[in-house]
Amino acid sequence: MTSPMKSLSLDYERFHKCFRISRQVASEHQVMYKFIRESLPGILASTLEGKTTFDVVSLGSGTGEVDLEILSQLSKVLPDVKVGCDMVEPSEPMLEKCKELVSRTPSLDDVNFTWNQMTASEFEKHWRDSQPEKKVDFIHMIQMLYYEVDPAAAVSFYRSLLNKDGKLLIMLNSGECGWSKLWSIYGNELYRRELKLTLTAADIKRNLTAEGISFEAFVLPSTIDITDCFIPGDEKGELVLDWLTSVVDFRRTAPPELKAGVMDLLRSPDFTTEVDGRALFSCNLEVLVLGQ
Ligand SMILES: C[S@@+](CC[C@H](N)C(=O)[O-])C[C@H]1O[C@@H](n2cnc3c(N)ncnc32)[C@H](O)[C@@H]1O
Repeated sequence: MTSPMKSLSLDYERFHKCFRISRQVASEHQVMYKFIRESLPGILASTLEGKTTFDVVSLGSGTGEVDLEILSQLSKVLPDVKVGCDMVEPSEPMLEKCKELVSRTPSLDDVNFTWNQMTASEFEKHWRDSQPEKKVDFIHMIQMLYYEVDPAAAVSFYRSLLNKDGKLLIMLNSGECGWSKLWSIYGNELYRRELKLTLTAADIKRNLTAEGISFEAFVLPSTIDITDCFIPGDEKGELVLDWLTSVVDFRRTAPPELKAGVMDLLRSPDFTTEVDGRALFSCNLEVLVLGQ
């Protein structure tokens, strides 16, 4: 008998509900913003030095909130520099939201945006065809590489676009956190229809090390509040569970053995700590920074 499980990415309405709840229960975005404000300017210090123009490529811009935080930090340290930014995002609704957000942000009036509704690999082709010699100062891929068919090839191409002191920043889930453990054990059953959603920073680090490419790594501790996942029928808990497993209505549709295994892992003290009566599941992020 085939499993009635359905991938969350095939149910746009449920995905969107889960995404909204994930913003409430996960500390991911707070942690990202803290990193961008406190660590990124230092990481880019040598790249920023003596610049009169500064070119950025954002791959998988989403709705743009994280990009805007990056650009506003850059504009503080580059007050008189002309910043150009290629925004690369395949989803039209996301890109439209991103444009709208930019148009409502007057502090970015001096940034010259180019909008590219395409995937990172389509943008690679576009770049090779239109301006193969051009180099850039800063490229970032924030929670994006999971969606590329060949992540190692994408890293290699985009690294080749860097100026002498340019930097490529990759942000992914850390290989050591609870969420990655869940994927590594149950990934085949949970993510049957998807490509590389099981990718972690550990995979990229392994490739880079094998190729002798040096990088800096920063772990950003992050958690998801999964307390309500243990209350069957709780609306919020069920959405969080779907978000974690990427399965629509996981509790009702997953085979009993899979469900028991996933719930045991979520309860494991190796990955979940109790703080003020709340169960916090580890989903650390990791940032890798590469030069030319
Ligand atoms: C998890 S979101 C991250 C968005 C944003 N970087 C952030 O951190 O808020 C991943 C984004 O990558 C986009 N995406 C999916 N496949 C892609 C691809 N092959 N190339 C570039 N972006 C892609 C998605 O549409 C989505 O907006």
